[in-house]
Amino acid sequence: MEKIVRPSSMERINNFELANKFIDEQVDLIRKQVGDKKVLLALSGGVDSSVVAALLIKAIGKQLVCVHVNHGLMRKGESEQVIEVFGEALDANLIYVDATDRFLDLLKDVSEPEKKRKIIGNEFIKVFDEESAKLDGISFLAQGTIYPDILESDGVKAHHNVGGLPEEMEMSLVEPLALLYKDEVRVVGEALGLPHAMVYRQPFPGPGLGVRCLGAITRDRLHALREADAILREEFANCGLAEKVWQYFIAVPDFKSVGVRDSKRYEGWPAIIRAVNTTDAMTATIEEIPYAVLHKITDRITSEVEGINRVLLDLTPKPVGTIEWE
Ligand code: XMP
Repeated sequence: MEKIVRPSSMERINNFELANKFIDEQVDLIRKQVGDKKVLLALSGGVDSSVVAALLIKAIGKQLVCVHVNHGLMRKGESEQVIEVFGEALDANLIYVDATDRFLDLLKDVSEPEKKRKIIGNEFIKVFDEESAKLDGISFLAQGTIYPDILESDGVKAHHNVGGLPEEMEMSLVEPLALLYKDEVRVVGEALGLPHAMVYRQPFPGPGLGVRCLGAITRDRLHALREADAILREEFANCGLAEKVWQYFIAVPDFKSVGVRDSKRYEGWPAIIRAVNTTDAMTATIEEIPYAVLHKITDRITSEVEGINRVLLDLTPKPVGTIEWE
């Protein structure tokens, strides 16, 4: 297949005027390409798939069918936001699949990180496949491919995204963002009216909380991780760090230590805070979080989250630590 190349004359989209011009052009092109046919999109709620969805909804409305698979490893409130923004506010044709039990049952007792990733990736494709088989008359598959994906598909960087779809799917592709850089996708997303927090959200790995609930995932530890992560995000938003730090999250290992709560012995897991800055995720430095913020987060997590009795801070840059713990 011929490689897509961004023309050197193409202006960098950095304001609403240029974004709206891009949107108008793409709406025309999409309508020409699609006609009165139907388009399918796997909508994860990440920046790229969300912007593609909003653009396609503007161009072809209900001819777009979005499928959101909740693999049970989303952060707190994420699937709800997809339903709120796309299903309700934008009135999209949205199919919501809660596949939590399927994923967690398959992952039970699996502790090896790459095996966990493989299970999550394969099951995602299976669920998406099953859903698309139930639909009639789909001619196109939309994807949130962006220009760095095309540059990186040369094999420079191993791609490990969950959501890679089966090659045998016989549908023509609709990839309206294929020439855009990430910053441009964000400007276009805001011009399309998507919430700022959705368009500027930090990167989140395809296997989601699955690679942060270290070792074999259990429902109670996954729940603790999700709640602790939500507190971290809330406190980072409160003190302005959310806008500044590239990626921040909690990891919860599968061992307990002794603690004390309400004057009683209280065994719990540690919550590990990781907050890093980087430009390309190949190397990363750690963010210096003010102690007052760390104290607040520690107080909240240890008092509000069932099962957590310590909060630790990861000070390791990449290298030698990777960004994720597994
Ligand atoms: P590491 O841990 O390799 O992470 O330093 C670099 C960046 O990639 C993200 N990451 C993943 N993204 N599927 C993804 O889509 C994965 O399996 C995966 N593993 C790591 C990580 O969050 C960081 O942004």
